[in-house]
Amino acid sequence: MIRALTIDDVPQIPRLLASEQGAHAEPSPHLRAVVENLLPRLFVKTPHADPELPGLVSVGDDGRLTGMIGRITRRLEFRGRPIRAAVACELFVDPAQRSQMLGVKLLKKLMAGPQDLLFSDIANETSRRIWTGLGGSVAAWYGLTWVKVLRPAQFALSLLHKRRFGKLTGLAQPLAALTDKVCRGASRSLTQLAPTPNVLSEPLTPERFLELFPEFSAMDELRPVYDRETLDWIWQRLDFMYAAGPSEAVLVKSPRGEPLGWHISQMTDSRVVRVSQIVALPNTVGTVFDHLLHQAAERGAVAVTGRVVPRFLQTFNDRNCILRRRSTHTLIHSPDRDLLDSFATGRAFLSLFESEGPLQLWIKSPLALARVRSENDLKSLNVEHKLATDTSWRAGCVSPPVAAETITVPSKTPLHQPRG
Ligand SMILES: CC(C)(COP(=O)(O)OP(=O)(O)OC[C@H]1O[C@@H](n2cnc3c(N)ncnc32)[C@H](O)[C@@H]1OP(=O)(O)O)[C@@H](O)C(=O)NCCC(=O)NCCS
Repeated sequence: MIRALTIDDVPQIPRLLASEQGAHAEPSPHLRAVVENLLPRLFVKTPHADPELPGLVSVGDDGRLTGMIGRITRRLEFRGRPIRAAVACELFVDPAQRSQMLGVKLLKKLMAGPQDLLFSDIANETSRRIWTGLGGSVAAWYGLTWVKVLRPAQFALSLLHKRRFGKLTGLAQPLAALTDKVCRGASRSLTQLAPTPNVLSEPLTPERFLELFPEFSAMDELRPVYDRETLDWIWQRLDFMYAAGPSEAVLVKSPRGEPLGWHISQMTDSRVVRVSQIVALPNTVGTVFDHLLHQAAERGAVAVTGRVVPRFLQTFNDRNCILRRRSTHTLIHSPDRDLLDSFATGRAFLSLFESEGPLQLWIKSPLALARVRSENDLKSLNVEHKLATDTSWRAGCVSPPVAAETITVPSKTPLHQPRG
């Protein structure tokens, strides 16, 4: 049986997700704590939650959950009129029940819901097959990433670091730094930056964001509608994404003080700056982008990366960015052809803010865990991490630091394998 996901299902979900580790696997305290504390807020108590657009669960004859899919309402408007949009996320089927069309049935029912647009942006290959088999499509432009390499040898090392050669990369770091210095001339075409733009900058506050966003997204046919509650919720969720710490939001202004646009990013511990949002006008995007790249270079970043904004593709090309396909897909489904066309023509505004990224359950960041704990007083978490030593708080951080304290978390294992 497939029915709406309710708050009463939450206690069963850790066991369902733990089944990935084996039929009788017990959920770790970490998994239990994160699901029980985050999931109600993600799926049930989100801002503007629509009772007609709940997530779904499948239930076996014995009453146990066999599968789930989340659905989170987002406020978007298309050509100036509000639409009902939702993100599909956390599709999961008990391994013992797989390949029996349960995933298909869950998604099919979700797609049949009363939303105008359903989308998902970190879908793996299986999800993509199911999604497109059910009449949905892939938004190819929105599955591209740009990378501006600043220090090639050190960036290559950071990729190895990501692949868990941690110790080795630490030892090779001085050699990579030297290689970057010596080979600066040879890699110039890849790493060169435009001249430093003559601009002012300041931390972007939520108030400024809300005031400026309508003007800066006016060219997009499909765009989000933010309010303070949604913005606070998303910004808090964004800080959960990487182990790096909080996001930094910077408003770039002309020398006369006129806003040109902004960038919001995080620096990971391997010194890659990950951009979650870049917003500008066609005639200011180059300047805003250059400001971002210079800021990253000055702070010792090895590369800057983000999702391609289709409208700004030429700007990424002009700055010699490498474009590549993401390992996951952006999937869309709508009965409205025009709405789907806005993705094909790149006139849909879709940043990490709107998508699954900040919604995921597999958080690893100690800061994120601390925040969950401070909100919910999670006493069951136990791994040492001194927030007092966290120096990543800088001007422009999007949310205030949690109180300096020591938290403990028993397992560093994500809830289930990240899909990206
Ligand atoms: C992804 C997942 C939910 C699929 O669940 P499932 O119940 O095994 O899937 P189904 O049996 O319904 O469908 C699986 C197959 O049916 C195929 N299929 C058959 N008929 C179909 C139809 N009419 N429409 C769509 N797909 C169809 C799908 O392409 C898919 O192909 P595959 O087996 O080659 O991958 C499950 O594997 C899972 O929980 N994985 C771990 C978590 C995960 O990766 N979630 C996805 C995150 S994006």
